[in-house]
Amino acid sequence: MKTKSRETQEIVYESETTANKTQQYARKNLEELFVSTPLPLSDLLFNLGLFTRSSLLVKYIVMHEVYQRFVNLPGLIVEFGTWWGQNLVLLENLRAIHEPFNKQRHIIGFDTFTGYTPSSSPKDKLSLAWQEQSYATGECYKSTLEKLLKAHEECNVLGHLHGMHQLIAGDITVTAPAYFAEHQHSLVAFSYFDIGLYEPTKAAMLAIKPHLMPGSILLLDELTWSDAPGEALAFKEVFQDTQHTIEKCKYYPSKSIVTIHG
Ligand SMILES: C[S@@+](CC[C@H](N)C(=O)[O-])C[C@H]1O[C@@H](n2cnc3c(N)ncnc32)[C@H](O)[C@@H]1O
Repeated sequence: MKTKSRETQEIVYESETTANKTQQYARKNLEELFVSTPLPLSDLLFNLGLFTRSSLLVKYIVMHEVYQRFVNLPGLIVEFGTWWGQNLVLLENLRAIHEPFNKQRHIIGFDTFTGYTPSSSPKDKLSLAWQEQSYATGECYKSTLEKLLKAHEECNVLGHLHGMHQLIAGDITVTAPAYFAEHQHSLVAFSYFDIGLYEPTKAAMLAIKPHLMPGSILLLDELTWSDAPGEALAFKEVFQDTQHTIEKCKYYPSKSIVTIHG
């Protein structure tokens, strides 16, 4: 599916999709219904489910399920590869539902915001999904996402207390080790890996590893995806000496949940 960034208009890239032509046509139809909706803006925002497909709704369900697994642990929520930041917003809102008074639950997102740089590692396969600038949001989107996160936070309990979200722009191979070197006291309760490439995934895993504890949860997007072997290779190399269990996500079979035991 071709995706065009509204902010950077010139960037066009292929999103990953398994939809066939009929489904893509149905999605296009939904887009047109969305654009031509008669709902007033405030009603539209209140009724967004009118346009939320099952394949998107399931992502909310998965994140809700995963949240319950780490809710009793202290520590950070970290997403590596945020794109437009929907998961970060979702996680802020799940935090507000599951632990409204926990203002210690900081949520951190890492992304270039300028999209992918194609991998030169032999451990990755070529894919249109990660050609130059694919998934680029434009560098200035970071401040838009910061505003969005703050706006959601302000809708939630204790919304006047800010500073729980942090967006780190840049190449994860540099930013992840630097962030955790500066924050050695950190604990990581939950980390979502959604980059798919070997080197940034391995750098992110190595960076958080010393900060994990028994019960910490990792959600891996592409562990079993043969077009993205780099994620599984990175995971095996980094966590081979760590006791863990791996489960297939019940409602989203291509995602895997890893629980750290020791
Ligand atoms: C598949 S998208 C993430 C989608 C997002 N997790 C979601 O579910 O909506 C992958 C993201 O990884 C980012 N990315 C790719 N390589 C990166 C790198 N070396 N450092 C930082 N971010 C990177 C891209 O900019 C892109 O936004």
